Amino acid sequence: MEPVNIGLLGLGTVGGGTVTVLTRNAAEIARRAGRDIRIAHAAARAYDQERISGIEAIGRITDDAFAVVDDPKVDIVIELIGGYSPARELVLRAIDNGKHVVTANKALIALHGNEIFAAAQEKGVTVAFEAAVAGGIPIIKALREGLAANHIEWIAGIINGTGNYILTEMRDKGRDFGDVLAEAQALGYAEADPTFDVEGIDAAHKLTILGSLAFGIPLQFDKTFTEGISRIEPQDVAFAAELGYRIKHLGITRRTDAGIEMRVHPTLIPHRRLIANVDGVMNAVLVKGDAVGPTLYYGAGAGALPTASAVVADVVDVARALTTDPTNRVPHLAFQPDEITDTPVLPIDEVETAYYLRLTALDRPGVMAGIAGILGEEGISIEAIKQKEPAPGETHVPLIMLSHRVKEARMNRALARIEALEAVSGEIVRIRMEGLDG
Ligand code: HSE
Repeated sequence: MEPVNIGLLGLGTVGGGTVTVLTRNAAEIARRAGRDIRIAHAAARAYDQERISGIEAIGRITDDAFAVVDDPKVDIVIELIGGYSPARELVLRAIDNGKHVVTANKALIALHGNEIFAAAQEKGVTVAFEAAVAGGIPIIKALREGLAANHIEWIAGIINGTGNYILTEMRDKGRDFGDVLAEAQALGYAEADPTFDVEGIDAAHKLTILGSLAFGIPLQFDKTFTEGISRIEPQDVAFAAELGYRIKHLGITRRTDAGIEMRVHPTLIPHRRLIANVDGVMNAVLVKGDAVGPTLYYGAGAGALPTASAVVADVVDVARALTTDPTNRVPHLAFQPDEITDTPVLPIDEVETAYYLRLTALDRPGVMAGIAGILGEEGISIEAIKQKEPAPGETHVPLIMLSHRVKEARMNRALARIEALEAVSGEIVRIRMEGLDG
């Protein structure tokens, strides 16, 4: 059979890794795909020739990405430039030219996926994006194919390695946020704009994709609630540990009777859960299906070779599908395009979770009763309370409370009333809590 010709956009970390994997494992990949796969044409503005093993196997290298997507020889375009533009224009042009596309670009899929998949559908081509979520973990394959029998109930994932690394270092070494962030950037995991990692935007891109695949809804990044980890203090990490919890930056999507929850925020989870023990830059995604129960997928969520592993797996999938009926391929969003529903995504006010609260209160009789009274009036049930010793000379003490599940709007109301008490100083720290039990 004729070889498959790749047009590769980007020779950075993941592009370089993809060249290495495609050349190093060429014979084995060909045995799987049924034909040779070769990089006919690549585009990069700048790249380090010395650092990319296998680069000599590339047919032609240019700095013009549009020349690659317009090259009639190219069957599959691999987009590894990242960002919204010109990635969107390049992908749409490749589709228009009748080429299949493989991308690792989570921002592109989360924001422009609906448009891109519609165009691909129209042209009978495939846009594959396994590497866009959790790097090397085949979570898209698992959701679209392996779990296709299930009614998915919820997904909770550690889907940003940089954030997980920061939280792990804060917990294990008591280090400061800023200090650890600088190190994560030096390790090469962080996004070009590190606020994407620490403010949860990168995780929200990935969660948006997971939610659509799980529940058959359009991609709706703008409706995904996003809260970062930049306000997590070492004392909250330590108090959580005393109470038997770990703080993880989770992406959570859940189906409820009222609609679908889509939220990224720091979350207290019981330390005995497997996912609570996923540390450092590693990613993990926990999926609860009604038939299979909970399943956990763990691995490297970033890095050259792990991400290339997902990119090349997509290339093999597309190569195998080149000769199949375009209307009978695995649907982009797991459900048939005419079966995508408009189930609403719930605003955060409507979401129900348990809470960890830390407030600073005057150490005086009756203060606790006043706080508990407000929570009681708002129908919020307390699961645990802990009061710390006052520091020498201090009049105020930290008070830690865990609540049962309650709607966010109700908790907001209670917190506003408690913050208004004279005996309570400053803002109340609130971190959402999830049991994640099967
Ligand atoms: N910045 C991302 C992370 C890279 O830290 O996980 C992979 O998407």
